[in-house]
Amino acid sequence: MHLSLKTIADPAAHRCSCLVLPVFEEGKLPLATAAVNKVCNGRITKLVKSEHFSGAPGKSVLLHAPAGVAAERVLLIGAGKAQGSDPGGFRKMISHAFSALKTTGSSDAVFMLSDVDTIGRDALWQAQQLGLLATTGDYRYTRTLSRPEPGPRLNRVVAGLSKPCSAKVTRAMARALVEGGAIGAGMNMTRELGNLPANICTPSYLASQARALARGNAALGCKVLDEKKMKELGMGALLSVTAGTREPARLIVLEYRGGARHAAPQVLVGKGVTFDSGGISLKPGAAMDEMKFDMCGAASVLGTMSAITRLKPRLNVVGIIAACENMPSGSATRPGDVVRSMAGITIEVLNTDAEGRLILCDALSYAARYKPAAIIDIATLTGACVVALGKHASGLFSNDEELASELLAAGNLAHDRAWQMPLWDDYQEQLKSNFADVANIGGPGAGSVTAACFLSRFAKNQRWAHLDIAGSAWDNGAAKGATGRPVGLLTRYLLSQAARS
Ligand code: BES
Ligand code: MN
Ligand code: ZN
Repeated sequence: MHLSLKTIADPAAHRCSCLVLPVFEEGKLPLATAAVNKVCNGRITKLVKSEHFSGAPGKSVLLHAPAGVAAERVLLIGAGKAQGSDPGGFRKMISHAFSALKTTGSSDAVFMLSDVDTIGRDALWQAQQLGLLATTGDYRYTRTLSRPEPGPRLNRVVAGLSKPCSAKVTRAMARALVEGGAIGAGMNMTRELGNLPANICTPSYLASQARALARGNAALGCKVLDEKKMKELGMGALLSVTAGTREPARLIVLEYRGGARHAAPQVLVGKGVTFDSGGISLKPGAAMDEMKFDMCGAASVLGTMSAITRLKPRLNVVGIIAACENMPSGSATRPGDVVRSMAGITIEVLNTDAEGRLILCDALSYAARYKPAAIIDIATLTGACVVALGKHASGLFSNDEELASELLAAGNLAHDRAWQMPLWDDYQEQLKSNFADVANIGGPGAGSVTAACFLSRFAKNQRWAHLDIAGSAWDNGAAKGATGRPVGLLTRYLLSQAARS
């Protein structure tokens, strides 16, 4: 997607395949829209009335070759209240515009948004969201379709400014647009990896994607640890999950060096279960296919690292991915088995379907060797989190309130939101075992909290946070597919950390 910024004083005279013009509720017109309306003798005002076009975000009307207008078409989009709409409304307006554009076959589009206000956000935020939504709106899954839908695609998006701005503002706007594009591309990478079936997207495939990302990039290093190395490190918990499959497990490490040589890195740890059958504690059949998405945490680490390598912030970031498959077989771990983690803590595996925490605990122990400024793990960890928060919020748990509020703030800004859940000691009791230091499940109550409590035992003395993305990582139903979350939150968080130092 080519993204650019242009001053367009006379939008009616501007040649393009589609001119996108906002219309406020009650039919009020922003400056650029009013100017075009005048040229085409009030056609927009008339149409807005006759179509009962409310101007609400998420609504649009298409005009073909209006007289006096150089654009091949004009797409009128609902922009909400003239005095400003909320960030969600702005995003709804823009993403709807991109879906509508898809049906028009336009190859390029010019958005005239200068006079649209968003409550609590500036024009830079708007430009970034435009760049992001243009990029994610362009994503299509085609990899395993023998006849992908043909058709012209939108490949250029211009953010039109109705008045010239200072060079400084113009530069900042262009940068925000490109930044949004980079985050969007990272999200698309995450979506593609999530959407790929588990017979293609294996742990080794994830490793090859990580290597490809690092190839030719001097600021990014990649190493991949095999099972032999994991055994040497004492990663008995991770290895117990992969015991039942023929697919070899991988521990993937990406190191981005953008900061001072010895500056403590931010470490991201991703759950990469490329397929979660449940193991011997086999899952029921309904919707089991969705367990190919159980590597979305890992994919979000890769997508975030991809965005970061494009944006080049001044900080050090390490991405660690624990990748394996959870399958039943004669060599699989049994309920009741006791395994020894890298931290030396013994674990009674009461349910082999609670495997995410088993691979993450060893990855967290491995992360400690980087003496991190913070560790954030990202995991499709519990069905209970979907029950608690649905798909709109990721669950956030942390042993550090400052880190928690930074992540919440990043999520709000990116509109990739998280909601904090408790991590009180009271819940730890549920993890008592008669046969090991800790059990891997905590009973029926507060499933996402006890999962986080389990992880917290392996993050002692670390500034650590855990994002449960079981609800936010993918959509189901007709729109089934990975969402690319929480790449927006993570990238915003990392950029804000770089701005601080
Ligand atoms: N990957 C699943 C969590 C999950 C389930 C995410 C459904 C999204 C939708 C995880 O490995 C799992 O199976 N968790 C169990 C834990 C239980 C056995 C304590 C769960 O949530 O049922
Ligand atoms: Mn599971
Ligand atoms: Zn799982």
